Amino acid sequence: MSPDRRGPLVVAHRGASAALPEHTLAAYELALEEGADGLECDVRLTRDGHLVCVHDRKVDRTSSGTGIVSEMTLDSLNALDYGSTSEPAELLTLSDLITLALDFARPVKLFIETKHPVRFGGLVEAKLLAELHRFGIASPPSADHSRAVVMSFSATAVWRVRRSAPLLPTVLLGDASRYLGGGASTAVGATAIGPSIKALREHPDLVDRAAAAGRATYCWTVDDKADVDLCRELGVSWVATNHPGRTKQWLGSV
Ligand code: G3P
Ligand code: CA
Repeated sequence: MSPDRRGPLVVAHRGASAALPEHTLAAYELALEEGADGLECDVRLTRDGHLVCVHDRKVDRTSSGTGIVSEMTLDSLNALDYGSTSEPAELLTLSDLITLALDFARPVKLFIETKHPVRFGGLVEAKLLAELHRFGIASPPSADHSRAVVMSFSATAVWRVRRSAPLLPTVLLGDASRYLGGGASTAVGATAIGPSIKALREHPDLVDRAAAAGRATYCWTVDDKADVDLCRELGVSWVATNHPGRTKQWLGSV
């Protein structure tokens, strides 16, 4: 994940989620059509051990049903609608998303964020790594050539991934205080820091500090032109945005 002086690469945050319902196949397909370089998703474990692409602890905001993802089975989650009022959409599993990315005509990187690392005591990371192994993408030749990046706000989750799959690139997400002390991302060996755009506006030096320590910077969620310009000036490697199409155009990279 070396910084690219031509400007950051563009990661579609939950797909092209400003235009279409988040984490749906349609949102990811649109992102790919619009030229996204990477796809971001959040993963949660179902009661019966499947990794599904859902951001919230509950399905209430993004589906036709209610309930806590980790207390529901894949079948019960599959019975819900995740689309809009005009267009229904199915639940996406991590496996569906990996297949979409690997089958696409050009290389696209997956940025997979693990949620609730504590609840299952490492099972989320173990299942995720098993899935990446199954697709043959858990041991990339280098971080830059990896098809998957694992991210988390949990230093424990990142540490678990580093321990079991040392070649996989990782992003330790967090606010500025997490990186300013030089502590957590170093301690867990994350290959990149992952500050919010608000944190970068307040502490633009974070990017250079990370680079000096051999770390790239992934910044979220970058939806405004001024922020995209700032990220380019600072040498951010990846910007996650809900608007991949217009971001690619702003960067002059389509
Ligand atoms: O890409 C990182 C970003 O998604 C973290 O925040 O809440 O949208 O998962 P959240
Ligand atoms: Ca996320």
